[in-house]
Amino acid sequence: MSLDPFEFRKAMGCFATGVTIITLDLDGEVHGMTANAFASVSLDPVLVLVCVDHTARTHAHLHAKKRFGVNILADDQQAISRYYAQPARTHERAEKEAGARFDRTAKGTPILHGALAYLECRLESAADAGDHTIFIAQVEDVVVGDGDPLLFFHGKYRKMGEGLE
Ligand SMILES: Cc1cc2nc3c(=O)[nH]c(=O)nc-3n(C[C@H](O)[C@H](O)[C@H](O)COP(=O)(O)O)c2cc1C
Repeated sequence: MSLDPFEFRKAMGCFATGVTIITLDLDGEVHGMTANAFASVSLDPVLVLVCVDHTARTHAHLHAKKRFGVNILADDQQAISRYYAQPARTHERAEKEAGARFDRTAKGTPILHGALAYLECRLESAADAGDHTIFIAQVEDVVVGDGDPLLFFHGKYRKMGEGLE
């Protein structure tokens, strides 16, 4: 069966997700990448996964650093998501252009101000899968904030609607 990639993307666009920024320390600078291919994997031990394109710079950085943060975006952080999805971007313009500010965790990983939640991750394993790699990581610490999530659905950013009973 030869599946039309456009139809595949359309189908996957029906699966509403949150949006994260994967953060890494690169010689004292913050490297961030927008990612929604993020999921919980296991509770014991606590594992998560993120799928990263082989061509993304983050791909090489994750292999090299083996430590990263997952910052789950709040609904007022759309500009940050757009910023860290651009191919050409620098750490210096992140605050001016998107309002992204970072602190460092005890392990030195960049943690984004105002995110809904933060997970401190240590790489456990990586499995190539087509043109992406599935990075599986142990979660060493979490910080949970308040607010509503930024959502991604049908290729567009969304906010939460009414809750259901
Ligand atoms: C909402 C959204 C979600 C994305 N999710 C992913 C993802 O899960 N994995 C991935 O490899 N790229 C994803 N991207 C694309 C990357 O953010 C983009 O290619 C980025 O420029 C890669 O940066 P880098 O080359 O610095 O690693 C996503 C983009 C957007 C807008």
